[in-house]
Amino acid sequence: SPGARTDPLVAAIDQGTSSTRFLIFNARTAEVVCQHQVEIKQSFPKEGWVEEDPMEILQSVCVCVEHTCDKLNQLNIPTSHIKAIGVTNQRETTMVWNKETGEPLCNAIVWLDLRTQSTVERLIDKTPSKSKNHLKDLTGLPISTYFSAVKMRWLLDHVEPVATATHTHTALFGTVDSWLIWCLTGGRKGGVHCTDVSNASRTLLFNIHTLEWDPDLCTFFDIPMEMLPNVRSSSEIYGYMASGPLAGVPISGCLGDQSAALVGQMYGTGCFLLKNTGKKPVMSEHGLLTTVAYKLGRDQPAYYALEGSVAIAGAVVRWLKDNLGIIQSSAEIEKLASSVDTSYGCYFVPAFSGLYAPYWEPSARGIICGLTQFTNRCHLAFAALEAVCFQTREILDAMNQDSGVPLTRLQVDGGMTANTLLMQLQADILCIPVVRPSMSETTALGVAMAAGSAEGVCVWDLNAEHPITMETYQPQVLPEASSKPAF
Ligand code: G3P
Repeated sequence: SPGARTDPLVAAIDQGTSSTRFLIFNARTAEVVCQHQVEIKQSFPKEGWVEEDPMEILQSVCVCVEHTCDKLNQLNIPTSHIKAIGVTNQRETTMVWNKETGEPLCNAIVWLDLRTQSTVERLIDKTPSKSKNHLKDLTGLPISTYFSAVKMRWLLDHVEPVATATHTHTALFGTVDSWLIWCLTGGRKGGVHCTDVSNASRTLLFNIHTLEWDPDLCTFFDIPMEMLPNVRSSSEIYGYMASGPLAGVPISGCLGDQSAALVGQMYGTGCFLLKNTGKKPVMSEHGLLTTVAYKLGRDQPAYYALEGSVAIAGAVVRWLKDNLGIIQSSAEIEKLASSVDTSYGCYFVPAFSGLYAPYWEPSARGIICGLTQFTNRCHLAFAALEAVCFQTREILDAMNQDSGVPLTRLQVDGGMTANTLLMQLQADILCIPVVRPSMSETTALGVAMAAGSAEGVCVWDLNAEHPITMETYQPQVLPEASSKPAF
């Protein structure tokens, strides 16, 4: 568009569970100018364990920044037009590193990891109420394998270098955002050790009312407060890129990926389904999490969300591809499932990492049932897509019960929303319209908006020329039919 070469730009690092991306947005039109993506290796050293290498994560960010800047130069746009960088990330994934050497002390324990099941049982047993919900009033969360403090406790108990460095005050704890911001702002030579409220609220150490680390929670988990990052708002200057093609550019946005999607959509979102509940936290009576969604500036209020987390959604498609080999690419599932219009009584519960909301049952495991001689891979593909929709329905029902105000439409984003059959199935199973934005990069856009609007680093005026349009999938079944099997 006219002016595109001179418009201010804002960049986003989007560090997800399976890949890292760097995207540059035009701050006037919200268009993606260029981007680069690198896959991240996951390792599964034991059944239920999921790890990633912090150095590989850092490297992937550097590679993405370099390649994207090269692409920008090829468009004859100087990198000096990039006014700010935001960081959005997979949440809860836990890292510990040595602040003097800058070296990680262990692999990152990924949010999905189940190794802490017995740690969770022990911690629940330690609470006076012997309930997994004992810390919920303070944190909005149940005691679960999902959250960082439990993973950090496990590391202190089982990984000697982590315990020693913690004892000698040289260890730093962080989620992926903290690790990246610390490294990118200089690492052991003056790196800034911080996180934002949305990431902090996923640790079980953060008081979501005072918006501070809670001494009692740190005592409960026996995690020294000194190793925790400073908690900042989601939109302020944390520090400046120390090296690389963007040296000197401020890092001024930080949001957990689901919060970033909430900001990018400017409404609720996800298969992590989040509903913005405004400036007051709403405590769930139906198995949902209460989480800090964002705080867009030092002096701005925090906004809260109710969240229903489904651990396995897109990952079920990857499983059909990698473990069963019934599809060659993720996109192929749509073709396969579309060739039948029902699963013929086949049901798929992909509880690979236990069940998250609303059950919080780490010992649950996946199951495929209702198989007959007639069942083939098309029915299995259909059942896998339905499984995502049924899980979303459960969360939506819980959300409606908690808030008392039924959701009238669902806004979606993320890789899976490219699947048109899934969108229609979801609308039918929820009996409300499903709305998909034309621009699928809402997570990166959300954090770019947070970064661009921080402390006047850039004028971010989306109202001027917002090119995002919406596509709506209307339910095509009657509400009574939607809860019954389709055969
Ligand atoms: O809570 C985990 C979530 O933040 C991970 O998101 O997109 O990396 O799978 P994603």
